[in-house]
Amino acid sequence: MTIKTLTVLALTCLTLSACGGVDPNSPLGQRKAIFKQMLHTSEDMNGMLLGRLPFDGAQFAASAVKLDQLAQQPWQHFPKVREEDHTAAKADVWEKQARFQELARALEASTAQLVLATRAQPLEATGLDGPMQKVEGSCKACHREFRDH
Ligand code: HEC
Repeated sequence: MTIKTLTVLALTCLTLSACGGVDPNSPLGQRKAIFKQMLHTSEDMNGMLLGRLPFDGAQFAASAVKLDQLAQQPWQHFPKVREEDHTAAKADVWEKQARFQELARALEASTAQLVLATRAQPLEATGLDGPMQKVEGSCKACHREFRDH
């Protein structure tokens, strides 16, 4: 194989959903990317509350705003018809739309509460535990009902 062929193959893997991946521009690729960002953001926040990372109030407050913004975004990337491949979303997402939307709104409400909690002065880790657990609970509640693994 020439270098040129290898380059073409590598580019194909990057741009298409070839090679077992997911096209990052597809609705599935977009919602997965948002969910991953939500996980990444909340992991760092949890890390601060659990003492794995040093608590930085300003950073935590900024992350709460980011998480609240991210929480609004995945839902528009669930298309009208379920994809056949690569999705971990159960068919129930489409069959029980009202319940799915209810849990989406519950997440948004919990992240909004978390943002409010970060306005406390002085901002301390202890006061944020409860609101953060509510957010985590919202993630888990929906995954339990609507995600396959
Ligand atoms: C209203 C339902 C709902 C809520 C709330 C929710 N999720 Fe999910 N999440 C899903 C579904 C459905 C999938 C599967 C998406 C797919 O594969 O099509 C998913 C997938 C994911 C994934 C896997 C993404 C990937 O790369 O495959 C992560 C990580 C994730 N969610 C994190 C979170 C976090 C963190 C929260 C809370 C801050 C959260 N989710 C809240 C429904 C939800």
